[in-house]
Order: sequence, then C-alpha cells, then structure tokens
Amino acid sequence: MKISIIGTGYVGLVSGTCLAEFGMNVTCIDNDREKIQNLNNGIIPIYEPGLEDLVKKNINEKRIKFVTNLSDGIKNSEAIFIAVGTPSRIKDGHADLSYVFKVAEEIAECLKDYAVVVNKSTVPVGTGRKVFDIIKKKNKDLEFDVASNPEFLREGSAINDFMRPDRVVIGCESNRAKKILSEIYRPLYLLETPILFAKRETAELIKYAANSFLATKITFINEISDLCEKVGANVSDVSIGIGLDGRIGKKFLHPGPGYGGSCFPKDTLALVKTAHDYKSQLGIVEHVVKSNDLRKKNNINLIKRACFNQIKGKKITILGLTFKPNTDDMRDSPSLILIPKLLDEGCHICAYDPEGLESAKKIFNDNRISWFTETYSAMVDSDILVILTEWNQFRALDFKKVKSLLKTPILVDFRNIYDPKEMREKGFNYFSIGRPKELFL
Ligand code: UDX
Repeated sequence: MKISIIGTGYVGLVSGTCLAEFGMNVTCIDNDREKIQNLNNGIIPIYEPGLEDLVKKNINEKRIKFVTNLSDGIKNSEAIFIAVGTPSRIKDGHADLSYVFKVAEEIAECLKDYAVVVNKSTVPVGTGRKVFDIIKKKNKDLEFDVASNPEFLREGSAINDFMRPDRVVIGCESNRAKKILSEIYRPLYLLETPILFAKRETAELIKYAANSFLATKITFINEISDLCEKVGANVSDVSIGIGLDGRIGKKFLHPGPGYGGSCFPKDTLALVKTAHDYKSQLGIVEHVVKSNDLRKKNNINLIKRACFNQIKGKKITILGLTFKPNTDDMRDSPSLILIPKLLDEGCHICAYDPEGLESAKKIFNDNRISWFTETYSAMVDSDILVILTEWNQFRALDFKKVKSLLKTPILVDFRNIYDPKEMREKGFNYFSIGRPKELFL
C-alpha cells in the first residue's frame, strides 16, 4: 500500500519510518529542502534512539523516500497522513492550526482519486471536520474521507511505542476509510494490540484527555511531595503505596521539577482553551497547568535552601538540561526557567547534558554559563551540584571523584535518584524532594 506523510517532524518521521518497517511504501513530504536532502542521505534532524538505523535501512530497502513536492508525493496514496506542527499560539495558548489547514488546502488542490486524509498531528476537537470542509470546498467532486489517528509516542522510546503500542485509536465515519486504516495497522493485530474505532471527535478528544490525565497524575504526586516535606512523610513510599492499587497504577507517580516537553504543556493548555470555548468546566486541568508553571518557578528555592540562602556568586553545576532523558529536546524544560533565575541571583552556571548541549547553547547564549562536554569536568570547583534530568550516566556517579572535584559536597537531586542515607554516609549534604528530614540527619 502507498502512504504519504506530510511533515517530517518528530511524529511524521517516526510514524513514516515505522510504517515503512511494517512493509508499506512510504513517501514523506516536507517543504524544508535541506531537511529532505539530509534525510535522503540518512541524516536525521532529531536525536531519537534507533531512528537513524531504521531510516537508513528503509531507504536502502526502498520502502521510504523523502520529497519536497506535495503534489508528486501524494500521488496514488491510499492514505495521506498530516503530521505537521500544532504549536501553542503565543497570544492565547490555543493550538495553532494554520499549518494543518494550509496542508489541507494543498491536498485539495492536487488530489485526483480517493484517499483517506488522516490527522496525526494533535488537533483540537472539531479539526477533522474543518479539514473535511476545506477539502470539500476546493475540490467538490473528489471522493475522500478525513480520519483522526492520534499518536501517543514518547520521546526517547518512540520506535518501541509505535511498534508495540498500548492501543491504536482511529476516529472515522466511513467503512472505506476504516478498511484502509485497518490494513495499515494489520501488523499490530498479530501482537493483539487493541485498535479502538470511534467517532472522529472522540478520537481527537482521547489524545488531549490522555495527555492531560498523565500531566494531572504527575502534578498530583508533585503536590503530595510538597506535603510530604511538611508532614515528615516519604513521597517515594507514598507513590508505591498508592501505585500498587491496580485502579491507580504505579506509572507517572515520580515527583520531579515539573513536566515539560513538546506535548504535556501544550496539550493541557489547549484542552483548557477548548473547555473555555465550549463553556465547560475543566478546573482540574486548569489547576494542573498553573501548579506545574509555579513548580518550575519555585525550583530555585531548593537550591537556595541547600546554600543557606547565600546564593549570590555561587558556582553551580547543572547536570541535565533536556526535559527528560534520551532526547535532545529542550522544549518547556524546567532548565529554561531555573537557569535564568540562578543567573539573576548572580550565580555562575556550569552545564552539561549528553544530547541537549547544542540546542541549549543556542537558547541561552549567555557568557555566564560555561558549557561542558563531559559529566565530571563540569563539577570542578563548584559550590553545588544539581541533577535536573535523570540521564542514565548520572545514576551511578563516582562520588569519591565528585567530592574531590566540588568545592563543597552539596548535591541537589530534583529526580530523587539517590538514597539520602547513602549520600550522608558518603559525606554529602544531600537535598532531594518529598522525603523526610530524618533521612538526611
Ligand atoms: C508524552 C506522552 O507520554 C505521550 O504519550 C504523548 O504522545 C506525548 O507526550 P513525552 O513528552 O515524550 O510523551 O514524555 P513523557 O515520558 O511522557 O514525560 C513528560 C514529562 O513528564 C517529562 O518532563 C518527565 O520528566 C515528566 N514526568 C514523567 C515526571 O515528572 N514524572 C513522571 O512520573 C513521569
């Protein structure tokens, strides 16, 4: 089957490559010439484990190609996936759908035969209907369908998530579209992946509801973690204690410096805006958005506590700048709020991240930050060591070495990856989140 994917960002590139791996004949389309040229040479614009090898393999086996011309690219395709960006609009937080609508216009101009147009970008409820109307208005005699097929990929494990998903959600109204999409996802039937067919609006809402629920779970445990500190309880045990209840589940109950990334912040905000538009109550998600923003602003307080409020002039090493490990993505990362605040307080920052350094350098562009390409050299003569993102290489540090490099053995761990008792025995003044004081004495 021939499939086209419009947009070679995160979603489009991973989906296209994995569909090619499933045996489909895939054409990926993007108007960025340089990007397309690079992709045809196997050069990948993002860091995602396993993606480069899979792209190269499918190029060699001639199941995937990358082109700039939409009209040529969609020719003879039975399914055309729209996977362009839907960023938050700066002025009001609504998802910006201008790229989606522009692509719909272009499809309408050049599509000759039946195809199902599939929205894979995260789009607010009702967008499928608007895409349908745009195409219908421009190309009245064309037979086509518009379906919604949201993605649930996590950065850092996107290939596995695509190949072995918890579920596939498809929103479409016609049997013809349903048959094509069933055929595309047929390889997953063998793994007994649940495939949920629903109304288009339902599928659109499932995506926002899923991300908002996960963001709520994280925010819940973050707020419980703050309470733990006040009442002398241990958040790690609370997470285990509630997570063992099958109705709650143990995943997404790790407290931290606040969620970030390309999805949760944008999607929670967009869902709140949709609820406002429809005059529907969504106070829970509204609170989640506010609480997470505030958490990111308050992260500096833990570092202040670690240096008895004498923060001015301190040299601070930050390990981990991306919003989570195994990605080079800096979008909405807690580091984007914390580092400027530390600079405002007169600190000097020594920063290291395994994959995010290049984009971080461009974003901050500040000579009060020294950049390092390795974990330990970033610690020399620092007053405080901060672990902000839990990359694997920070999980088993050589603390003898760390102690010999730091000016003072202070460690602030925003991801609770170390044990307070062990850190105390190693001679560190150790700070983490949501754990009782007596563990540190
Ligand atoms: C998320 C969803 O998981 C995915 O289904 C959706 O399609 C896109 O958004 P992603 O943004 O890649 O994926 O990251 P995820 O692993 O979900 O983490 C998001 C944020 O939550 C990170 O900042 C992470 O550090 C934080 N997080 C996650 C916590 O703070 N605690 C947790 O327990 C889990």
